[in-house]
Amino acid sequence: MSPVAMEDVVGVQPKPRAAVLAMPEYHPPLASRAMLRLDFNENTLAPSPRVFAKLQQLTAEGLTVYPEREPMEIQVAAHYGLKPDEVLLTNGVDEAIHLLACAFLDADDEVLLCTPSFFMYDVSCSMMTRNLIRVQADDSFLFPRERFLAAVTPRTKLIMVATPNNPTGQSVSREDIRALCAAAPHAVVFADEAYFHFHGESSMDDVPAIPNLIVGRTFSKAYGLANLRCGMLAGNSGLMQYVRKVSSPYNVNGIALAVLPEALADQAYLDWYVAQVHTGRERVYAALAELGVRYWPSTANFVLMDIGRKHAALVAAMRERGVLLRDRSSDPGCDGYVRITIGPEEHVSRGLAALRGSLTEVGWTPAESVPAQGRGDGEREYE
Ligand SMILES: Cc1ncc(COP(=O)(O)O)c(C=O)c1O
Repeated sequence: MSPVAMEDVVGVQPKPRAAVLAMPEYHPPLASRAMLRLDFNENTLAPSPRVFAKLQQLTAEGLTVYPEREPMEIQVAAHYGLKPDEVLLTNGVDEAIHLLACAFLDADDEVLLCTPSFFMYDVSCSMMTRNLIRVQADDSFLFPRERFLAAVTPRTKLIMVATPNNPTGQSVSREDIRALCAAAPHAVVFADEAYFHFHGESSMDDVPAIPNLIVGRTFSKAYGLANLRCGMLAGNSGLMQYVRKVSSPYNVNGIALAVLPEALADQAYLDWYVAQVHTGRERVYAALAELGVRYWPSTANFVLMDIGRKHAALVAAMRERGVLLRDRSSDPGCDGYVRITIGPEEHVSRGLAALRGSLTEVGWTPAESVPAQGRGDGEREYE
């Protein structure tokens, strides 16, 4: 074989798959976040102290070992009353979404999504198929049940719904999830319950009985472990075997696996954090009503509010005051809408004080917080 001359290959670069060229990118605004983080719906305080204590017991040698996921999956399954082969631990729900797309989507298949919703569904599914069918919610952001069911076709292979939904805070009832599973027995129905703890209603108990249902949970939100990247999928073992097959054996790091039992065991901490969020949510509603800001009552640890044309100015003014918010204006149907995360009492107080000051500073008036009719949808930016 004759050697290839460098001049023959300069300027020639291998191309990725067409789907990779076409897929959207997700660039969450992660820079300079060392302030009050009311932008990503994380726990804004800390995980259970038991988690941190366990972390400090880890050894240097422990870091040299490949992580073993299975013993923890057995524990997690027992925690939820499931069988071990019905559970898969993942590198956050983000990876879980990716694995579902890899395991179930061929290029001809359709994915059914409700918009606005979590953008990673678009990213991971676009990698596999162009056929993303999006059903847009109206300005109430209630789950458009009838239109969504009507969008199921024989080609629908994967249905992804977040409940509670991000960024709207609305949820999909367990009954509606069951109806979806029944209407599309040929499709996998993924109920993303990343924010379950702040809501309380779950489809987890339906997992053993419904063969095409997969439920997702994360340890990033209420548990306060976003930095450790740990989530889970629960579903019928017949389906889960394929998701397990496409996952890396070392997808969840050993630090997350080591502290997970502590996080799961400290129910008192979880209950305290969730109670703080519930109280905080009510305080945020009351403040927004008093200020005249339109908002959507939420079942999650965040509230979406309608700021109108001054959305970017408000987010910038809040940053100046050391508080991060998330501008959701580029989401479909969200022109002018901004999301605020609810944390423990003190964080809510600081967030609300900054909000009052910033609204005044940008010259905002309640007249700008009006239903969306007439306001054109902004072009969606994939931030
Ligand atoms: C609806 C929804 N699902 C999943 C995730 C990702 O969670 P994780 O940190 O487990 O990857 C998020 C994060 O914001 C989310 O909003």
